[in-house]
Amino acid sequence: MARLRRLASSRLLLPLAVVVGVGVGGALAFGTTSGAQGLGGASQRSYGSASTIEYQYPPNSYIPAGQALFATFCSSCHGPGAQGTSRAPNLLGLGPATVDFWVSTGRMPAENPSAIQAPRKPALLSNQQALEVAAYVNSLDPAKPGIPKVNVKTANVAVGADLFSLNCAACHTITGTGDELAFGTVAPSLRLASSTPVAEAIRTGPGNMPRFSGNLTNAQVRDVVAYVTEYIQHPTNPGGFALGGVGPVAEGFVALLFGVGILALVAFWIGERS
Ligand code: HEC
Ligand code: HEC
Repeated sequence: MARLRRLASSRLLLPLAVVVGVGVGGALAFGTTSGAQGLGGASQRSYGSASTIEYQYPPNSYIPAGQALFATFCSSCHGPGAQGTSRAPNLLGLGPATVDFWVSTGRMPAENPSAIQAPRKPALLSNQQALEVAAYVNSLDPAKPGIPKVNVKTANVAVGADLFSLNCAACHTITGTGDELAFGTVAPSLRLASSTPVAEAIRTGPGNMPRFSGNLTNAQVRDVVAYVTEYIQHPTNPGGFALGGVGPVAEGFVALLFGVGILALVAFWIGERS
């Protein structure tokens, strides 16, 4: 009997240690947050809210530099007044966030105007120059959205995870690695974009991506952005092992296993007493 009891308690030790370890690790992981990014330039006009997303317009003083950049890098395809040509679409009335997204992610200036989709590549223009071009194009036909400055500090990453699996994972996959879509188009990896371009993509819908405007509030967009820039780009590994980075589904399954582990512990305990 004593031998049996020793056997039972040694069996209890491992699952108990694992359960405690995962609990502590998980609590630590959910406690971490990272800082929000600034926009750099001062803004003359903005809307939205500092606690969720503030949409800023690049200042009018950026317009002359943007006009010169546009003439050098953009007008050959988009036309001298950004009205579009047979080679490239009209840019009037798109708002600064659209222009900033395409330039700051290196998609523009395009290398091959007849490509099915302009790929992300190392940006030719700096972030500052992207804002200058955005200021110029927007001055021709002012529109929303402004450049989103996301306050990820106030975000709820768990809510962001739910919204991501509902609205984004079908194309970008649950791990954010990206996937091929129909007709040779691609939903790219989400490992590279910082908070402003992620929010820009959500609010403007580049290429074949849908635009999420009325159906996601600023607070929800902030939560999704935080999930992408904090969880997908910097996965935390509760319990000290990565589970191959396969995301909430597999991790939920592992949680289920630990849940079963706890039930087994209780069963052992009841068995011991009777
Ligand atoms: C070599 C030709 C070429 C050059 C140069 C070029 N573009 Fe483009 N641009 C395109 C094409 C083609 C598309 C459509 C690409 C797509 O849908 O994937 C496009 C799309 C865009 C879009 C998205 C339009 C929309 O309706 O969503 C923006 C914004 C843009 N370009 C801005 C710029 C800016 C700003 C520059 C200069 C810094 C620039 N482009 C330079 C060819 C060019
Ligand atoms: C129907 C498929 C689809 C859905 C749903 C979708 N996207 Fe996209 N996404 C795309 C495609 C396609 C592109 C590339 C557009 C292009 O370059 O022409 C893209 C581009 C992006 C980019 C740019 C990445 C980079 O580094 O260049 C981000 C960020 C992004 N999506 C985030 C999201 C988020 C967040 C959601 C959910 C709110 C979402 N997407 C939903 C198809 C989708």
